[in-house]
Amino acid sequence: MTPYDRPRRLRRTPALRALVSETRVHPRELVLPAFVKEGLTEPAPIMSMPGVVQHDLDSLRREAVRVAEAGLGGLMLFGVPLERDAVGSGATDPDGILNVATAAVKAEVGDAVVVMTDVCLDEFTDHGHCGVPRADGSVDNDATLERYARMAVLQAQRGADVVALSGMMDGQVAAVREALDDAGRTDTAVLAYAAKYASALYGPFRDAVESTLTGDRRTYQMDPANRREAQREVALDIAEGADIVMVKPASLYLDVLADVAAGSDVPVAAYQVSGELAMVEAAAAIGWIDRERTIAESLTAIKRAGADLVATYWALEAVENPQVRELL
Ligand code: PBG
Repeated sequence: MTPYDRPRRLRRTPALRALVSETRVHPRELVLPAFVKEGLTEPAPIMSMPGVVQHDLDSLRREAVRVAEAGLGGLMLFGVPLERDAVGSGATDPDGILNVATAAVKAEVGDAVVVMTDVCLDEFTDHGHCGVPRADGSVDNDATLERYARMAVLQAQRGADVVALSGMMDGQVAAVREALDDAGRTDTAVLAYAAKYASALYGPFRDAVESTLTGDRRTYQMDPANRREAQREVALDIAEGADIVMVKPASLYLDVLADVAAGSDVPVAAYQVSGELAMVEAAAAIGWIDRERTIAESLTAIKRAGADLVATYWALEAVENPQVRELL
């Protein structure tokens, strides 16, 4: 009855467990998404995202310094404009909120933090879609590409190190890469949201950016049922010149993430989205789960599945909260 194999030997003490831990989460691999709203003079809380705020320009600058001091990998910026129209003009306005914020952050932290900017129209359109609409309301893929190209070039000129393409239009990586190169921005990297699913977990984000969307994004974001198709999206984006590919959301798509990590020859990112945060914060707030342990476990799982870098609203938390830090 005596077992010959005893895996428990290596679990006996914290030191032994740490010695053989297969997965660690390093601050440099974490990217903090941040929202900046035009016209604010102080940060505004986001009800469905406890601990996350819409920044004003000054508080965003301070947050960027905090990110640098914590040794995080990067900051990913989303703008919330005061005015919106059908084509998302604010996205290509040199004085638009995202462009102004990008320059402000870059002036503050320089190259200490990788500054990423969202290339997508949904925050800037009055209908809330990620692209420009045709007369019948459907999203016009190729007309949208021209908008993304202009948007990305402006962001690069404002100092973005990485432009993050979240719109899920076909050909967006090639269109943006070509436009950046033509503008002499050959050094600006492209992060492609390659496998981005039409997920219910973006709900709180849409509160954060005050989205006007009615309906859904199922004609451009992926069907949650599809695993194989992610390989196709990733292959296309890498062929078009993506420097980093991303899977989004993270926790419910770890199978997809593992597939992509196994097959990709460029770094793989995962986005732990707003709904992933909201579920944990809500359950923790009523005492149903241990907040810090769940945060640490979720980040560990995303890395274990194969992510090289993780965009997470808990990026600072993971470094600054010792109860999380000690578990990573
Ligand atoms: C689109 C975009 C979205 C998110 C990141 N970029 C929203 C959407 O696709 O509807 C969601 C991120 C999150 O939920 O945290 N610009």
